[in-house]
Amino acid sequence: MLQEIRVFAPATISNIGCGFDIMGFAVEEPGDQIVLKISNKKGVRITSIKGDNGKLPYAPEKNTAGAPIISMLKKYAPSLGIEIEIDKKMPFGSGLGSSAASAVAGAFAMNKLLELNLSPYELLPFALEGEVIASGSIHADNVAPSLYGGFTLIRDYNPIDIIKIECPDNLFCSILHPNIEISTKEAREILPKEITLSNAITQWGNCSGLVAGLLMNDFSLIGRSIKDVVVEPYRAKLIPGYYQIQKAAVEAGALGCNISGSGPSIFALSKGKESAQKVGEAMLKKLYDSKIEGQLYISPINKQGPKVIYSK
Ligand code: HSE
Repeated sequence: MLQEIRVFAPATISNIGCGFDIMGFAVEEPGDQIVLKISNKKGVRITSIKGDNGKLPYAPEKNTAGAPIISMLKKYAPSLGIEIEIDKKMPFGSGLGSSAASAVAGAFAMNKLLELNLSPYELLPFALEGEVIASGSIHADNVAPSLYGGFTLIRDYNPIDIIKIECPDNLFCSILHPNIEISTKEAREILPKEITLSNAITQWGNCSGLVAGLLMNDFSLIGRSIKDVVVEPYRAKLIPGYYQIQKAAVEAGALGCNISGSGPSIFALSKGKESAQKVGEAMLKKLYDSKIEGQLYISPINKQGPKVIYSK
């Protein structure tokens, strides 16, 4: 039996403009890492958390990585003990699915450590337990792509129906993370509870267009479909200079650009790495105009989901 494992789980861009709460994709960079060790003391303990500036709870039941591990241990190996080391390698409150990446890392690491051979679909409910702790709401559009890799569509939540969507190889993502924090809970509270039929029609068209564009390798269709008339008008106000950054990305050649999850991160998709680099630099330059610092990531799409870094 394995005694120790280190895993990586990818950050994710949820909503992708048009698909609020139903679409997302995973990137290679950034992401989260955790280490699990078998311990002779029964139960689950978090022994170290790095990279969180002291913000994350050590109580495993209140921690997004801890909660799925507690549930899985209870169900599959109640007599064992697990020690967790969390290595936050990405910003949180960033709109990049930081809590989902931790929750996915926890569930995936347990699956490998205990050699359970559970499928992503079987791991999903455990990972979602962690996500609920962080955001207070059930939305799977970060957890699903982090766990499955690639682009995922949540066709329904009841029961949950996840569809992995193939995408072109040459698609790259520029991610701009402005150094401000937005709470997902608050960014959800400012949204209207109802939308007009004409906005719904626009949004349905774009969601369908995005899926078709990905499957048909139609870069122009992908770009035309990354539009949002439902959520963006409300959340754009939370991100200084958002529309100027979006304009700069498109002028630099991005296929499309929008808010990543609940923000403040902004993503753009481009054809090829060189284009993504140019787009990212244009976005960063515009952010500096607002006198805000930020980080830029240029990443291919992560198609495999989480991975084992080492095990012994
Ligand atoms: N779909 C969610 C939202 C993702 O936009 O509120 C949050 O990361």
